[in-house]
Amino acid sequence: MIERSEPDLPKRAPKSIELDGRKMPFQAGETILEVAQRAGVEIPTLCHDPRLEPAGACRTCLVEVEGQRRLLPACKTPAQDGAEVRTETERVDRHRKTLFALYLTDHPQDLEVAERGAPNQLLEMAARYEAPKDWGFMESLRDNRDADRNPYIHFNADTCISCARCTRYCEEVEGVSAISLAGRGAETTIATADNLSLLDTTCEMCGGCVDVCPTGAMGEKLPLTREAKPERELTKVRSTCNFCGVGCQLDLNVDPDANEGRGAVVKVTSPPAGTTTNDGNLCVKGRFAYDFIHHDERITSPLIRNDAGELIPTSWENALSVAAAGLHGVSERHGPNGLGFVSSSRCTMEENYLVQKLSRAVFKTNNIHQCAAT
Ligand code: SF4
Ligand code: SF4
Ligand code: FES
Repeated sequence: MIERSEPDLPKRAPKSIELDGRKMPFQAGETILEVAQRAGVEIPTLCHDPRLEPAGACRTCLVEVEGQRRLLPACKTPAQDGAEVRTETERVDRHRKTLFALYLTDHPQDLEVAERGAPNQLLEMAARYEAPKDWGFMESLRDNRDADRNPYIHFNADTCISCARCTRYCEEVEGVSAISLAGRGAETTIATADNLSLLDTTCEMCGGCVDVCPTGAMGEKLPLTREAKPERELTKVRSTCNFCGVGCQLDLNVDPDANEGRGAVVKVTSPPAGTTTNDGNLCVKGRFAYDFIHHDERITSPLIRNDAGELIPTSWENALSVAAAGLHGVSERHGPNGLGFVSSSRCTMEENYLVQKLSRAVFKTNNIHQCAAT
């Protein structure tokens, strides 16, 4: 047997940056922001979204890198071996205060106006970094799209900071490009082609633009028209969307005082990107079609037919025994293949498995089908 020895390869130290004096290794391609987030170092961001290509648009995340004349955007700057990065210096603090103070000059600061839907992260950050609020005020020059007749998405140009998270999400994640930045300078706004209603564009009403907007400029219409409380006053309850079998996770936003104190779902939001299998994404049904929850016509108990053929409410125990007796009756009269079972792609995989088990093992028929199979 030939003995082989391991080749004497030179040992390479992992690449690292010095982050606020702390050595942090990084993987090729990681940005300074990603390394900082892994290290638990907080760098404020507004236009960053882990699902999107970095844009470096909002300038909130600027940090000092030794040897660089200018502050650099942490969200867009790749980590370089040996770089010395400082995230909390007098210069960085001065930059943040200046930046937020400038943003505030055409941004409503009254929470009643600026935060009618989702929390306004710009106002939160301006307060956290103690940005001056008295640098004057000018009316926003950005065009609204008030005439858009779509039922779900409202755009409030006054609180838009042109960070392009919504347009990038629409293009890069949804692959739709229904909205884009339009205009120049202080007039930059979010528009559709020819200012059409979203209903007349390629928009799929996924609501992703609403979800990613850091200021709530893209907002949901229904809670606004119903004068629901702002999101920070609602209780989030994690649930699984029941519109299809994918199992997207969503957060039911519950107003505990609504519905005569019994509580009501007044909004649906997606969990943060990277925390659930749907990665912060939802479709039109999952995000906006929640009216059925408290609908007057919703069936809330099992129904069976009486002798007159009318549907009447009953208990689950009775409903199940009536159904079982009916199925056994058909099987006895016509044989197992007199029965057929049809399941649904709206059920979970486990429920579909149980239906085929019921069909094959209990009623001895392979007449089992599911709508996703067609
Ligand atoms: S709802 Fe979805 S598809 Fe429509 S504009 Fe927003 S991100 Fe694009
Ligand atoms: S609507 Fe929101 S996400 Fe879109 S550019 Fe304006 S602030 Fe950014
Ligand atoms: S988060 Fe880096 S520039 Fe906006």
